Amino acid sequence: MSQLLVVGNWKMNGSEATVAALLGEMVSAVQTPGVDVAICPPYVHLGQAVKAVASSFIAVGAQDCSSQTSGAYTGEVSPVMLFDIGCRWVILGHSERRQYHGESDALVAAKLAAAVEAGLSPIVCVGETREQRESGKAESVVAKQLVGALRNHAGIESLVIAYEPVWAIGTGLTASPQEAQAMHAHIRSVLEGIAGVDAVASRLLYGGSVKADNARELFAEEDIDGALVGGASLVASEFLSIVGAGST
Ligand code: PGA
Repeated sequence: MSQLLVVGNWKMNGSEATVAALLGEMVSAVQTPGVDVAICPPYVHLGQAVKAVASSFIAVGAQDCSSQTSGAYTGEVSPVMLFDIGCRWVILGHSERRQYHGESDALVAAKLAAAVEAGLSPIVCVGETREQRESGKAESVVAKQLVGALRNHAGIESLVIAYEPVWAIGTGLTASPQEAQAMHAHIRSVLEGIAGVDAVASRLLYGGSVKADNARELFAEEDIDGALVGGASLVASEFLSIVGAGST
């Protein structure tokens, strides 16, 4: 199994002062983590974050990017710009992007191709809603999102998929380790069927109310290779405990 990856998704939170405080605490605590660690602040704080984590083990990612490289796209941020300022990761297709900004699988696929071309490592989010789970469609929804997002994939060396059931995001409800493992095994089998994707080497993160007290049992599952952490990544001690749970 590859090294675990723990990613903090700060969403639309923070100020210069809180970013400095949070990263100051994390940089001094994360010495030789034994897991890969990345944090994804809002765009406006990325430059500050890259400087704050320089010469530490923490990498920086963005929460989204444009499918375009440059030009007349008001309000957009290109993956080339993100790489240029020192970002190495980008979250794509988060359910909040899909829900509030109408992002389709086709757009996620276009963003993924642009991100990979720019040198970023994508973290592609998939996950079903509560209604889809209750009507027995969770696996087919996730398979469709995967196949849709990876349709333009171009030699992604470090593919990362984040399974985030929509009903577990920010709700305090977590998929049980068994439910998450079952979906992760399904995701790996779908990846096996996509030409050019190395399903074994791909890292599958679980996201949705991951906390210090449930991370260890999630990481114990065979196909869970890390976590995408929202709310708990805004509290240094919580996030560091999740990193710690992956290190031992
Ligand atoms: P949460 O968010 O940990 O606050 O549930 C996870 C995410 O949306 O990535």
